[in-house]
Parts: sequence; C-alpha cells; structure tokens
Amino acid sequence: MLPRAKITAMGYYVPSRRLTNADLEKMVDTSDEWIVRRTGIKERRIAEKGVYASDMALIAAKRVLENAGISAQELDLILVATTTPDMFTPSVSCIVQGKIGAANAAAIDINTACTGFVSALTIANQFIKTGYYQKILIIGAETLSLMTDYQDRNTCILFGDGAGAVIVEPSEGDEGVLGTVLGADGEGGKNLTSFAFKDDEEETAKRVSGNKQTLWMDGSEVLKFAVRAMAKATTEAVEKAGLTLDDIDIIIPHQANIRIVEGAAKRLGVDMDRMFINLEKYGNMASASIPIALCEAFGSGRVKKGDTAVLVGFGGGLTWGAAVVRF
Ligand code: ACO
Repeated sequence: MLPRAKITAMGYYVPSRRLTNADLEKMVDTSDEWIVRRTGIKERRIAEKGVYASDMALIAAKRVLENAGISAQELDLILVATTTPDMFTPSVSCIVQGKIGAANAAAIDINTACTGFVSALTIANQFIKTGYYQKILIIGAETLSLMTDYQDRNTCILFGDGAGAVIVEPSEGDEGVLGTVLGADGEGGKNLTSFAFKDDEEETAKRVSGNKQTLWMDGSEVLKFAVRAMAKATTEAVEKAGLTLDDIDIIIPHQANIRIVEGAAKRLGVDMDRMFINLEKYGNMASASIPIALCEAFGSGRVKKGDTAVLVGFGGGLTWGAAVVRF
C-alpha cells in the first residue's frame, strides 16, 4: 500500500490583541446581539501594525517544528496557504523558508482563500504518496484585518488574523489522509472579491471605504453556496475514503459562521456535537481557521489518536475542499 500523508505535529499562533463585538459597536451600526445571533462570533484576534502573514506563519512554523522534534533542514517542502501575503514576491513560504533556515526545502504559496489549508494538505498528500517528499510543513496564515473594510458592517464583523501549521510525513499504519475532494466554481467568484492591480469602477464603488483592495462579498449568496459546498465535499471525501459518515468521529469545518456550520450539519444529518467550533473566539481566519481549529480540537482532547476527522472548507474563488484524516 502507498504511504499517505500523516499529520505528525501541529502548532499555531494568534495575536493577543482582541477586537470584540463591543468594539465593533463603536465602529459601525451594529450590535453584539445581532452579530452573535447571525454569525456566532464574539471576538477576533487582530495583528499589531507592522505584523504580516509571514510573521505569524514564522511563529507557527517554529512551534510546529519544536513539537515535531525535527530541524528546519530536514524539511523537503513548505506550503503556505494565504490570501493575504505580505507582498507579491517573495512569497510567504519563501520568507518563512529563509527565516527558519530550511535550506533543503522548496517553497510554494497557495491561494484558494478559506479552502487553502485543505488544498495544501491535498497537494502534500500527493507528494508523500509518490515518495517525492518525506517531510512537508503546511501553514495557513492570514492577516485578513488588512483586507477588511472596517466601514462595512456586512463584512467587518466576520474576520480575524492568525496562523496554524502542521508537519506531514509518510504514514506507516492506517493513519493519514484517507480521501480528499477539491472543487471550484469560477463563475461564482464575483460574489467575493478583493482587487490587486485591476481597476474596476463599479467594483470599487461597491466598497463603503472606496478601497478596491478591501474585501466585498454578497453574504447571502456565499452563505447559500457554503452550506451546499461543505455538505457535498464532506459526503464525497468520505465516500472516496471508503467510509460512511458513521465512521467519522468529528468534522472540523471552516469557521466562517455558525449558521453555515449548522446548515451543513443539517444537510449531512450530523448532530452539532460532532462539529468542532471555535469561531466565537476568532471569527473567520480564512486558510488559518482549519489548522487552528485542529490544534485546539487536539489540545482540548476532542480529537485523539485513532480518531477519524473530516476537515472541510469553502471560500473565495469560489472554491471548496474536504479531507478525511485518521490520526
Ligand atoms: N449589524 C446589524 N445589521 C446588519 C449587519 C450588522 N453587522 N450586517 C448586515 N446587517 C443588516 C443588513 O444591512 C440587512 O438589512 P436590511 O434588511 O435592512 O437590508 C440585514 O441585516 C440582513 O442582511 P443579510 O445580508 O441578509 O444578513 P445575513 O443573515 O445573510 O447575514 C452575513 C450576513 C453574516 C454576512 C452572512 O450572509 C454570512 O455569513 N455570509 C457568508 C460569509 C462567509 O462566510 N464568507 C466566507 C468566505 S470569506 C473568504 O473566503 C475570505
């Protein structure tokens, strides 16, 4: 049997600065009651001025290497999932590679928005299966606060910053990535946008801030898509793993909105106590949400060695992905 990517260590970092619903009440016309009822979010972490995705990715990388007990020189590849890189080039993965001294590692950034961590894990799994690489560092790192329009109450309540990381190595037994699904709907991409070089007057005018780089979203369209995509991706990944939903101990979903998670759970016929939730503390951290949730699920004992989990995400692009993982 071919080896599979096995998660052998985890680590994460979130900034200490908190943005609470009470803080947001002073910034836009909103209320704690509305935000909690419509999203489940109570607070988010926000990076200090001058702290970028690579800075948080670096801390998460150092922590996961320490937890794995391996040196940076042993890494073959660094994959960083991010939608909010410090700059266009060098990439966040190259910055991290240089700073940790991973001289033998290739470095690649991946941008599939909130699906990023699942995309990176799927790619890493292929490299491990073929025997091409043995030790891969995967990081999801985001400074979404830099992309958020803090004048737009529809979106500014949702996002936070953070970085989560794992090491994957070849499995020896029946653990590792058992099945994966990735998908995209480029036609639907217009529902969630942030602009780099391209000028588009109509799109810029949609932003309350007038800044084309800030994120604009048709929230109700994305919400409907997200519920469908998460349920479909989970079902397909479980089938590909040769399992049924009864074999799954826990689902670790992208932490965008409690109503999306509840909607997906209902479609799947799964009780909410099998869905791991930490979005009340952090909001949506895009590609950092799933690895940080994974760290906390393990840290709190909700996931143990031998358990089987589904990691499932959706995001801008539009994109979606799910991975069935046995620990
Ligand atoms: N406070 C008070 N009222 C608000 C707020 C707010 N913060 N935001 C919106 N409202 C109002 C709206 O203006 C609207 O008022 P109106 O009826 O007078 O026009 C009303 O509340 C209802 O608005 P909806 O957009 O229908 O509210 P909805 O229940 O859909 O919730 C939300 C909005 C939270 C944005 C939801 O649509 C959502 O979570 N969507 C998915 C977002 C997401 O998860 N994106 C993930 C991808 S992000 C990425 O990939 C980087």
